[in-house]
Amino acid sequence: MNKKCVYIYTIGCQMNVYDSEMFKKVLKPLGYIPVDEVEDADLVIVNTCTVRKKAEEKAFSFLGRTRALKKKNPELIVAIGGCVAQQEGAAIMRRMPYVDLVFGTRAYSRLAEMVARFEVDRMPVVDVEMSTGISEEPAPPAPDHEVEVSRFVTIMRGCDNFCSYCIVPYVRGREESRDPHAIVSEIRDLVAAGAREITLLGQNVNSYGLKEGLCDFPELLRRVAEVEGLERIRFATSHPKDLSPGLVEAYRDLPKLCNHIHLPVQSGSNAVLKKMNRKYTRDDYLGRIESLKKVRPDISITSDMIVGFPGETDADFEETLDLVREVGFSGIFAFKYSDRPNAPAVKYEGKVSEEAKSRRLDALLDLEKELSEKRNSSYTGTVVDVLVEGRREGRGGLQWTGRSSCNRVVNFVREKEEGAPELVGKVVPVYIEEGLPHSLRGTMKSDI
Ligand code: 5AD
Ligand code: SF4
Repeated sequence: MNKKCVYIYTIGCQMNVYDSEMFKKVLKPLGYIPVDEVEDADLVIVNTCTVRKKAEEKAFSFLGRTRALKKKNPELIVAIGGCVAQQEGAAIMRRMPYVDLVFGTRAYSRLAEMVARFEVDRMPVVDVEMSTGISEEPAPPAPDHEVEVSRFVTIMRGCDNFCSYCIVPYVRGREESRDPHAIVSEIRDLVAAGAREITLLGQNVNSYGLKEGLCDFPELLRRVAEVEGLERIRFATSHPKDLSPGLVEAYRDLPKLCNHIHLPVQSGSNAVLKKMNRKYTRDDYLGRIESLKKVRPDISITSDMIVGFPGETDADFEETLDLVREVGFSGIFAFKYSDRPNAPAVKYEGKVSEEAKSRRLDALLDLEKELSEKRNSSYTGTVVDVLVEGRREGRGGLQWTGRSSCNRVVNFVREKEEGAPELVGKVVPVYIEEGLPHSLRGTMKSDI
């Protein structure tokens, strides 16, 4: 079999990162090895995101670049997968005739077959079939090489929530959960290959298993926690409306469950939350945070926020700022509202001007910076447990890097490096000397 090279460009969420790993695995039997330079590729795959307009533009601008590559090498295969592919389908080929394969969000299991066929007949293919159930997807093959310390595992696909701004339910289909045994077995394989931290992925993990009558999410967490050798469990994303008492109990009982939750609130105004179809109020949200803090007083909470949703007034936005102060988020991903095809909010009145959106985004990011600096500097002089992920060149030479349980990046040096054992994959105590805006810096002392 000839050695061939695949370059995968991944845009968007962790789900896409996981899927891109799958693409690599299913293409391996065809002889494709992943490369880091697009110029070296025989096959280029763009795994796309359409959640905001900007992400979509990124995909098309990258695809534009592949046109020049194809001029140089007419044999090059250009494929587009993921949410933009699902949304646009055959229209992509009409717009960009140099694209050879278009495959949607549920077509990964057919990718290898598509590529193999194209290598022979050079006939373009569009596969945006959505009917493949998650239970029909073949389990990913066990890794045959050492894997990174921190890995993603998809536990469900799709979304049934229909938040009014969101395109996800239209491009990722209805919510479907994977069998818990398949999930646990995949995690065992990853841990055997070197993973120490697993992030369970789904659009709304809190409703895992309910529709299918599988076990619920807290029970899944308990089963995953039993995997020997696994040090840490994280998950994303959870919807506040479905955060159950069972999940709070899991935080109480499972030390492997990291001290962090990403719980997107989107807005602090009840009027806006209602129009967003989020199905909770500001007080509901605060109540859930309070119950989590009862069992984990120092839990770190992060959120997504949308500014400039149609009809959002300055007073609504003030309520968002106020909520951010009240919760004391450790991190915020803030976005300007953007109209997405099919999402009901496209038709909502009271569109907010670009200028007001920018102003609100800046104000939110300023507040977030202030809070995160305050929080990070409060770690100075403390000792945190860090799961070491790697070593890289940083300010002042080679540094170890990893994350704390509450998901802060920690860069550190070791007091005595010579002859000391390898740290990657280990949880080690680090003395924090400085809290920077986006990371902590410290030293691993020999006496702690
Ligand atoms: N405009 C802006 N932000 C959006 N998000 C989802 N849809 C939109 C949109 N139309 C944000 C939400 C979500 C995150 C993944 O992207 O905050 O939680
Ligand atoms: Fe989109 Fe809402 Fe589903 Fe998240 S929960 S993917 S924001 S519809």
